[in-house]
Amino acid sequence: MGVLLPDDNTAVPESLAAYRRRGGYQGYARACRLEPDALIAEVEAAELVGRGGAGFPTGAKWRMVAAGPLPHHLVVNGAEGEPGAMKDRTLMARAPHRVLEGLLIAARAIRAHRVLFYLNDEFTDAITALKDAWQECARAGLADVDLHFVPETHVYIAGEETALLSVLMKGPAQPWHKPPYPSEKGYQGEPTAVNNVETLAAVALVLERGAKAFAAERPMLFSVSGDVRRPGVYEAPEGILLSTLLERAGGPPAGQQIVAVLPGGYSMPPITADRFEVPLSPGQLRQLGTGLGASLIAVGSERGFGQLGHDIMTFFARETCGKCPVCVKGCQVLRDGFEPYLTRAPSAEGREALLLTAKKYRHKGICSFLDTAARVAESLVPLMAPAERSSV
Ligand SMILES: Cc1cc2nc3c(=O)[nH]c(=O)nc-3n(C[C@H](O)[C@H](O)[C@H](O)COP(=O)(O)O)c2cc1C
Repeated sequence: MGVLLPDDNTAVPESLAAYRRRGGYQGYARACRLEPDALIAEVEAAELVGRGGAGFPTGAKWRMVAAGPLPHHLVVNGAEGEPGAMKDRTLMARAPHRVLEGLLIAARAIRAHRVLFYLNDEFTDAITALKDAWQECARAGLADVDLHFVPETHVYIAGEETALLSVLMKGPAQPWHKPPYPSEKGYQGEPTAVNNVETLAAVALVLERGAKAFAAERPMLFSVSGDVRRPGVYEAPEGILLSTLLERAGGPPAGQQIVAVLPGGYSMPPITADRFEVPLSPGQLRQLGTGLGASLIAVGSERGFGQLGHDIMTFFARETCGKCPVCVKGCQVLRDGFEPYLTRAPSAEGREALLLTAKKYRHKGICSFLDTAARVAESLVPLMAPAERSSV
């Protein structure tokens, strides 16, 4: 049964009345009776971590913003640019009030002067649903923050929080070197909480059900794509086994097996089939040297790892923002490194050379972009089938 998303399977946005029927805005009513400090303590007690990919504790982020000099800002990250990701868009389009309730609670917790809601302008269904829902809030006397929707032509890097802030301040879609963190100096140099859309939906649940009840279940949204029969968004408790989630998504297409899953879109190392019994939680995945991100991509047995590596590095080479020369060069070198293995297997020497190249670009550049590409490249090389004879 869904709690983040409405239970019925329609694409129609949920109305305010329908949302109230399933407990909607009770969390906000409770939040209004709490002091901001107690509100943050509740989110800390729920041990909620951000759902935008970085997994940062939400309560701790809010506490840092709340401690800074006024004014404070809340920025909602509705960019969702990770390949295969569709959970945030689905949430905004189908359950706009779930997101708006979380937004109202977050704004109250950090005493936000202004709320900026960044969106990919291609998400027209989500934008319409949110704007209509906000009008319903206004008519019901709930719209008590200064909220601005900011739809932008989206590029991948603009989802990174500092690049996103730069765009909101009419600058280029390029990250800045942290520190300063947005919680210290964000929008207009003032303390800013940047939160993912699903994080805010979870905040609404924390207040509606209480920290303890939330922590007992931890509902999450999983975008499942790639080589499965039923790609889509699945709501399930944190800790669901990867194998169970793959079954819910219909398993592999006919005649194939799923040989690996990328659990954080193109940004995290894969989990191989021998580990599919892993519970999907940030801690468990960390132990496997990977992490839970915005989407899970199933890799079928017909897709070679050389091909996959090339596809992923082509994406990074295309999406680098161009600010750091080492990033531009590194992403191209990594893409070219996989090119020979689109059609043939690497020799032991070829694999070693590609591995060394990937290692060379770890921890380079001012943001995590190149390091992410290099880390994923490093993880894919050992999975490429070795050639029977040396061919490089
Ligand atoms: C290259 C890159 C792209 C990102 N894209 C997104 C995105 O599309 N949506 C998102 O919420 N976070 C994205 N993030 C993470 C944000 O920088 C930030 O951690 C997040 O919005 C914070 O919200 P949370 O704490 O609620 O997860 C991206 C990070 C990087 C490095």
